[in-house]
Amino acid sequence: MIYKFDELNKTEKYKIMSQTIIPRPIAWVVTENETINIAPFSYFTGLSSEPATIMISIGHKKDDAPKDTLKNIRETKKCVVCFVDEKYLEKMNASSEELPKEISEAEKFDIKTKKVYDNFPPMIEDINCAYFCELNQEVNIGGTTIPVILNVKEVFIKDEFITDKERIRIDLDVIARVGASYAKLTKL
Ligand SMILES: Cc1cc2nc3c(=O)[nH]c(=O)nc-3n(C[C@H](O)[C@H](O)[C@H](O)COP(=O)(O)O)c2cc1C
Repeated sequence: MIYKFDELNKTEKYKIMSQTIIPRPIAWVVTENETINIAPFSYFTGLSSEPATIMISIGHKKDDAPKDTLKNIRETKKCVVCFVDEKYLEKMNASSEELPKEISEAEKFDIKTKKVYDNFPPMIEDINCAYFCELNQEVNIGGTTIPVILNVKEVFIKDEFITDKERIRIDLDVIARVGASYAKLTKL
């Protein structure tokens, strides 16, 4: 069967891509403006290690306003990308609810955060890994979804997941998205 993308609607294209590009990592993004905003994004990938850059594609709300994460990154140029493990699966999923920008997901879903740097938003408390990022640029791909390229400035990894500090061996326990579900990654 061939799916002709020019003849499909947005949801059909999403269904095909999200069930074939698997697994997709989840960027659980914290931004800080008037409130602390937290939301997950799976159109997320690493672009390069030198310069250290990642990309997250962020869309718009139902009323066509930019999602709060995009608005905050545009205004503050900063975000913290957290990597989700099983204990946070439920809260991460809940934090994808569309809320007015004045309402903080941190408060509404009782997601505790921890301030590490004065000049960055906080990271999720007790997270295993977090990237502290600065906006590099937005990319125009001709739609309402905006790929945002971010420079990675600092990476936090909980000591227990660094199996060899000298050779930088890391064994992280993360959840990924597979279609509309989630999966734990196991090494072969
Ligand atoms: C696992 C997961 C992955 C998601 N990936 C994306 C994505 O890549 N891009 C996007 O625009 N929305 C994505 N969403 C939806 C956003 O999380 C949702 O629109 C959220 O309300 C945005 O919040 P904000 O307005 O606080 O930024 C995803 C949701 C979930 C649960």
